[in-house]
Amino acid sequence: MFDEKAMQGKRVLITAGAAGLGWEMAQAFLRCGASVLVCDVDDAALQAVSGKHEQLYATRADVADEDSVTALFAEAQQRLGGLDVLVNNAGIAGPTGPVETLSKADWDRTLAVNITGQFLCTRLAVPLLKESRGVIVNLSSAAGHLGFAGRSAYSASKWAVVGFTKTLAIELGPFGIRVNAVLPGAVEGPRIRAVIEAKARSLGRPVEEIATAYEKQACLGRMVSPKDIANMVLFAASDAAASVSGQALVVDGHTQALI
Ligand SMILES: NC(=O)c1ccc[n+]([C@@H]2O[C@H](COP(=O)([O-])OP(=O)(O)OC[C@H]3O[C@@H](n4cnc5c(N)ncnc54)[C@H](O)[C@@H]3O)[C@@H](O)[C@H]2O)c1
Repeated sequence: MFDEKAMQGKRVLITAGAAGLGWEMAQAFLRCGASVLVCDVDDAALQAVSGKHEQLYATRADVADEDSVTALFAEAQQRLGGLDVLVNNAGIAGPTGPVETLSKADWDRTLAVNITGQFLCTRLAVPLLKESRGVIVNLSSAAGHLGFAGRSAYSASKWAVVGFTKTLAIELGPFGIRVNAVLPGAVEGPRIRAVIEAKARSLGRPVEEIATAYEKQACLGRMVSPKDIANMVLFAASDAAASVSGQALVVDGHTQALI
């Protein structure tokens, strides 16, 4: 059964965990008894969360940079003394616009953070997770199982996350390591506002029109909350999901098409 002590004594690394959904997840794991190391590229966000909890550690790392990830895992060893859960959360929105208008630099950076970053972290986590028979949770998106006009780099990177997840689940299952992807729909909060504004600009439409369309695209008629996503990540990482691996766990209020 899943309970409030489900993560007692667990050692958790959350990438991009100093703000946004990652910080929501960090707080959820801490509430359930885990020790949590978060990394981020935003120094102000790292500063803001530092000292908020005695079982929380915060450090600077860019998941797309190999040396930075190496240093991050050295710190994980030092701070946590091993690893039970890796949450590959870092992801950027990438460019918005028709594919023929996108620059290679923007395309490359989107894939570097959203999928290569997961590879770099996973590669170093696996030896630790083999010792603990641990868990990996990879953040994808509703755009990781649906097409998303104007967001080809993002969508391609998030479909890649699902392929990576399913493959890892096969490779690592024999070692008792479970691997799942969580696919959020539009999550209420500051990030989605920026995404909506970029979409409105790209389509030449009013921002409020796009905002309403975003709310209506889910059959539940509203965006999901950061807590909804943290709950699913926590569940996937817990023993309550002991037989769940290789899955694309969608949390999107049932969205059938992305605008
Ligand atoms: N918010 C949504 O509506 C939504 C929907 C679907 C999927 N997702 C996915 O959920 C994850 C978290 O999204 P979010 O909305 O919290 O993001 P966000 O834009 O709020 O960013 C969260 C944190 O990521 C950090 N970050 C950015 N690049 C980084 C890097 N290279 N290395 C380390 N940290 C980095 C930022 O500094 C920030 O503090 C992402 O993978 C995102 O694609 C989010």
